[in-house]
Amino acid sequence: MSPAELMPLTARHGGPVQGRVRIPGDKSISHRALILGALTVGETTISGLLEGEDVLHTADAMRALGARVERAGDNGWRVHGVGVGGFAQPVRALDFGNSGTGCRLVIGAVAGAPVMATFDGDDSLRSRPMRRVLDPLEKMGARIVQVADGGRLPLMVHGTADPIPIVYEPPVPSAQLKSAVLLAGLAAPGETTVIEAEATRDHTERLLKHFGAKVSSKPHGDHGRRIVLQGQPELEPANVLVPADPSSAAFPLVAALIVPGSELILEAVMTNPLRTGLLITLREMGASIEALEKRDDSGEEVADLRVRTSALKGVDVPPERAPSMIDEYPILAVAASFAEGITRMRGLKELRVKESDRLAATTDMLRANGVAVEIEGDDLIVQGKGRPGGGGEVRTQMDHRIAMAALIMGLASENAVRIDDSAVIATSFPGFVDLMRSIGADLT
Ligand code: S3P
Repeated sequence: MSPAELMPLTARHGGPVQGRVRIPGDKSISHRALILGALTVGETTISGLLEGEDVLHTADAMRALGARVERAGDNGWRVHGVGVGGFAQPVRALDFGNSGTGCRLVIGAVAGAPVMATFDGDDSLRSRPMRRVLDPLEKMGARIVQVADGGRLPLMVHGTADPIPIVYEPPVPSAQLKSAVLLAGLAAPGETTVIEAEATRDHTERLLKHFGAKVSSKPHGDHGRRIVLQGQPELEPANVLVPADPSSAAFPLVAALIVPGSELILEAVMTNPLRTGLLITLREMGASIEALEKRDDSGEEVADLRVRTSALKGVDVPPERAPSMIDEYPILAVAASFAEGITRMRGLKELRVKESDRLAATTDMLRANGVAVEIEGDDLIVQGKGRPGGGGEVRTQMDHRIAMAALIMGLASENAVRIDDSAVIATSFPGFVDLMRSIGADLT
């Protein structure tokens, strides 16, 4: 993005955060619903799809691969899929913008189809590691025709009509890696197995079942899972209802905790246990968060969350919790700055390869606003002082979550916080600024 397109924004403290809001749909489920819809013959309908740039890139990629994907009125989408192995040869490169999830999942889906596709993205995505996803797919029979230095984008994959089912143990806890292998395994005869040392979000497994595939998942070791997919299933078109994204809900939620006098209800937030690390941690810190009206939508648990301003204290966050809150560390670090005492977040190695080096970007964001923070090995240590000074200017580094976390900090710190670019927020949370203003935030 050229500097001319940057959109600075400033957050300052004002009145309490109040009201009842519906957060946009979950990003992980939105990508998966589009991809599985495209891999199913017939019409899939999706309501509540996240219409953020990341997901719209995946929708475009599915079109380029032969599926019909259309918006059918407010909040509804239709996908006419081509079936497992039925992708058409795309005539242009697939552009995933800022989205690692869209890119890695579609690499997996393409690996199991006899087509050749080029994958590309923005500068942030071009700097992220792709080798990790290519290795297992090569074992399954896909050919990597071209790849930029260091295993980066742009790259070209030649998929195979006859993928080989494998038993795969991901070297890092990653739902994207797991999902890429499972999506390639759909076209394979027999069982594709993924053995995770640490369980990661299981939306692919749940949605595969929702579309009629046979997938089993059993505990493995202390924190892991063994997932087995029966290849070549008859996928049936399905209706998918996308619940609100807990990773997006995290921003207004923490705002309500740290802005004095606030009370907020967040409607129908997904509470899949593999995504609730932040809620667990915030409650340990003393947060008042009640889960009301617990229910089930398209195979995912949801609840309305009632949040009230709370006095927070520092805690020790264990490394095994990281996969269930991997995207939430920047905003947890903001909450920790408003707590009393030290919060130590352990085992954050994977944060270095997100949309930015998030460990460094989070540290820079806090330091710029007068918070004492250190990185020790893979741990982030925040010294909470109740209320930071703020007053910082934060470089968002093409990272939507750094942008939103910095703004939430500015709503409760003594002085305003300015970010250099708010445009990047649209990748995951379109309407963030309007939604925050509607509940009382001062963003200008
Ligand atoms: C995601 C998995 C996580 C997460 C990302 C979404 C997914 O990444 O950070 O925002 O939808 O599968 P990793 O698979 O790299 O852990």
